[in-house]
Amino acid sequence: MNREEALQLVEEHVVAPGLRKHMLCVEAAMKDYARRLNGDPEVWGLAGLLHDYDWELHPTLEQHPRDGAALLRDRGCPEEVVTSILAHNTEGTGIERTTAMDFALLACDEVTGLISATALVRPSKDLREVPLKSVRKRWKERSFAAGVDRDHVEAVTEDFSRECYDGELDLWTHVGHVLESLKAIAADLELDGRLGVA
Ligand SMILES: [Fe+2]
Ligand SMILES: [Fe+2]
Repeated sequence: MNREEALQLVEEHVVAPGLRKHMLCVEAAMKDYARRLNGDPEVWGLAGLLHDYDWELHPTLEQHPRDGAALLRDRGCPEEVVTSILAHNTEGTGIERTTAMDFALLACDEVTGLISATALVRPSKDLREVPLKSVRKRWKERSFAAGVDRDHVEAVTEDFSRECYDGELDLWTHVGHVLESLKAIAADLELDGRLGVA
């Protein structure tokens, strides 16, 4: 399965633009970490791009992503990617995280939401102007993007750090990495100022 085929699958099954963009975000962050950790950016990118593709088909944590795995396999998605996707909801699938890609996926998932929300409340709506300190400030405002569970993000970042960085990756270095990877795709996210007033 190449990126084109993965995008096709997303387009077939995901209507909500926000969910499509969320997966583009996680794809970008995963490719960046593949480069940092000697993974294959194409493969890691697929995990990000596809991880929530079945959410509209299976909108509960019992079904998602468990029930989406069969179609991924039918379409030729590499098994290691299917496993990473299943392991982003261990509670629902029983699949534990074991590989670097598995840990990276969960560490990159939710935090992208806080970063895009931070960009969206700027008058310019330009993600490329967002400094890390703004994300940090928004992190402390627990009512801002309240759906982003800060404790969960902290926990999965710690797991990722322990597994892949000998515990040396701190939360804000991680958020900085993800922020930079999203800036690089600001146009795909429509967060390049085109929606802004300034
Ligand atoms: Fe998910
Ligand atoms: Fe997600």
